[in-house]
Amino acid sequence: MPLFQLLRHHMMENRRGLALLALLAGLSNTLVLATINAATEVVGDREELLRFAVLFGIAILVFVIVQHRLMYLVSSNVERTIREYRTGLFETIRGVGLAQVESVSRSELFACISRELRIVGNSVPPLVVAMQAVVLVFCSLIYMAWLSMTAFLLWVSCTVVGMMIHFACAKTIQLQLAEAYVKENELVTHVNDLIDGIKEVKMSQARGAELAEAFGSLAHGLSGHRVTIMMLYSRAFVLSQVTFFLLTGLMVFIVPVLSPTFIKVVVMTTTSSLFLIGPVSSIISALPNFANANASAKSILSLKTRLLALESERFPQSAPFGGFETLRLDHLFYQHRHASGEGGFVVGPINLTVQRGQVVFLTGGNGSGKTTMIRLLTGLYRPDRGAVRLDGGVIDASNLLAYRDLFATVFADNHLFKELYGMGPIDQDYADRLFDILEMGHKSRIEDRRFTNVNLSGGQRKRLALIAALLERKPIYVFDEWAADQDPYFREKFYRTILPMLRAEGVTVIAITHDDKYFDTADIHLHMEDGRLQIVRDAAMPMPALDSVR
Ligand SMILES: Nc1ncnc2c1ncn2[C@@H]1O[C@H](COP(=O)(O)OP(=O)(O)OP(=O)(O)O)[C@@H](O)[C@H]1O
Ligand SMILES: [Mg+2]
Repeated sequence: MPLFQLLRHHMMENRRGLALLALLAGLSNTLVLATINAATEVVGDREELLRFAVLFGIAILVFVIVQHRLMYLVSSNVERTIREYRTGLFETIRGVGLAQVESVSRSELFACISRELRIVGNSVPPLVVAMQAVVLVFCSLIYMAWLSMTAFLLWVSCTVVGMMIHFACAKTIQLQLAEAYVKENELVTHVNDLIDGIKEVKMSQARGAELAEAFGSLAHGLSGHRVTIMMLYSRAFVLSQVTFFLLTGLMVFIVPVLSPTFIKVVVMTTTSSLFLIGPVSSIISALPNFANANASAKSILSLKTRLLALESERFPQSAPFGGFETLRLDHLFYQHRHASGEGGFVVGPINLTVQRGQVVFLTGGNGSGKTTMIRLLTGLYRPDRGAVRLDGGVIDASNLLAYRDLFATVFADNHLFKELYGMGPIDQDYADRLFDILEMGHKSRIEDRRFTNVNLSGGQRKRLALIAALLERKPIYVFDEWAADQDPYFREKFYRTILPMLRAEGVTVIAITHDDKYFDTADIHLHMEDGRLQIVRDAAMPMPALDSVR
């Protein structure tokens, strides 16, 4: 059962306490019923009645205390499990290799981290009540068996009928729930389309209308589905209730006629029977919660299994690299893989040597493999063959995390974090200088390690991203077409002010660029063509050289 599998860990740790509390709650509940029944027999005897009243009071007090404790124990364990799953999913995603993380469905991840785990959490209070009700029903049935075997057998047979009705309905409900789950995820995908593509939607009435129509028909289908599910639950509930009403009626109207000994206990068994309808109803009404929570638990576990099957980068932390003199890409080879598993675009073999403090430009047509090569160089992709070497030492799993820490990056699809996570204390003078150079002081500033404003134009956001990268003070900077969305004035600043400033600081810059006007700024000019790297110019080499091998 997926729900138990999900909650098992912490529940098992506290299983004794939980079982004891559930038992006590059920017993105290049964005691309430038993004292009422017993008291009806001694109505004339004041002393006896008082004793039962005290017992009745104690039973209620025990019930209140135990119920409170039980709910606290269960909720804290469930919430702990939910918290661990949330952080676990977050960490797993953080640990998955870049090449595989793209295969994870965004809407499924959002749904699991928020909706599915919440459904599991919300299902718990009714399930705890139902759990107690099971104990109560069990204890009351023993009490009823002691009162009258006929009543007991009637009850047991009706409970079996009630359960059979439910199991008959449960399969259909499960199927309907699974379909509803798929439709709900599709709805989220459509909302993602609307939010991410709002400009495109607004620019075309036809596109907007078709998207809305697709969404509307999905929502319509889903609501029909949900109504069907609720009606199935309702039908099962009504059938079970009617079974119990008939049972109680049977005890009052029919059984006394057939069994003369039953007459003596008819009031007590009927009271017990009526008393049991409440708990039985809470068990039945918890079933939809249980089925929903089970379906959610199933999708959470399935996502977790799929994520754990992806290549993880849980590498050991190693000592940071103090700096470096030479970075070398040695016969690097990488092939993109499609979701189907078949091989795609090939980059390499790539051979390149970069010395500390050099400025390297990488050019090439669209789709020639520049970004792929940068991802290999920064350690985001791990080569299929060949090695990245830092001062001769190979970069592998043992030092990859420390290697990545050498870089500050602004990727072409860079994400601008409003908060400067992982940055440590900010050098305010340096930050002020950068805001001055990039003329962003009137738009945003850094306060409490956060940008005060990131609602800016595309070019301005890229300038803030550059400031954030430079503030990291790393030995190597990588820029993927940073200047592409800057106007000529800021391009000039990038190539004629920022890059010389970085060069003067002795840091290394590797930039993908199409700005041939500024190629003179670079020490090394590389060119990518169909995955192959060509060294167009290397200031350290006497002559232009071709360093591509196939
Ligand atoms: N995640 C991926 N899965 C499969 N193939 C990919 C993936 N990313 C890129 N490719 C393929 O690899 C090739 C090189 O892509 P890459 O992004 O490295 O090119 P690029 O030189 O940076 O292009 P651009 O100038 O457009 O940014 C392309 O043909 C592309 O289709
Ligand atoms: Mg690119």
